[in-house]
Amino acid sequence: MSKEAILKATDLGKEYGALCVVKEVSMTMETGEFIAIVGKSGSGKTTLLSLVSGLERPSNGRVVLNDKDITAASEDDLALFRRKNVGFIFQSFNLIPTLSAWENVVLPLFPEKMSEQARRDRALDLLHRMEMDHRVDHLPSTLSGGEKQRVAIARALVNSPKIVFADEPTGNLDSQTGESIMNILKDLHAENGMSLLMVTHDLDLAKAADRIIRMQDGEVIS
Ligand SMILES: Nc1ncnc2c1ncn2[C@@H]1O[C@H](COP(=O)(O)OP(=O)(O)OP(=O)(O)O)[C@@H](O)[C@H]1O
Ligand SMILES: [Mg+2]
Repeated sequence: MSKEAILKATDLGKEYGALCVVKEVSMTMETGEFIAIVGKSGSGKTTLLSLVSGLERPSNGRVVLNDKDITAASEDDLALFRRKNVGFIFQSFNLIPTLSAWENVVLPLFPEKMSEQARRDRALDLLHRMEMDHRVDHLPSTLSGGEKQRVAIARALVNSPKIVFADEPTGNLDSQTGESIMNILKDLHAENGMSLLMVTHDLDLAKAADRIIRMQDGEVIS
């Protein structure tokens, strides 16, 4: 594994019963790289993202993420590792409905290591970047789709992750809001050298990436 690789997957496979949805995928991602994964619905993009980010266990193969073999890690170890190193942005936002915007953002932080004030300041700073100052005390149910996604992005970034995994982060948004979310992600990638692995079905968005991975029927075809 080259020193600069943040992610290396080898012969990854995922089977659900007799159904093989990811087949022998090998890929390497350099630190600071922005890769887009494209492919038809059902081609295995979300599954691949779940495998390489440690959200799901592969049926075969190995994943080394930030120099750690996550396929060999225990559940507890993996949960802690993800919280420290990885940010996730889901298509469906996954916000906690009973918590306000800023409370959602601070969730991944370690309360024992930071004062309440420091955590709130960190959340407000990120929400400010997302142009969400006026909505920090709102519950998710009172936010628009684009606003929810901006809260979700702030939450994904709160631990300054080395790598962010994003599954169709603009999929539920109108094209203008989607573009502004995409610009925020591109800026963070450019400023902080944050690695970004993003699933999208939008070829225009994919063009912003350093590299595009195409999937078909569970395989990487280019
Ligand atoms: N838990 C599961 N059990 C059985 N089959 C599954 C499961 N999860 C996913 N699949 C199947 O695996 C295939 C790939 O699913 P996946 O969600 O990775 O596709 P995708 O490329 O992300 O599609 P989309 O663009 O629609 O989000 C699909 O055919 C799906 O039905
Ligand atoms: Mg998907």
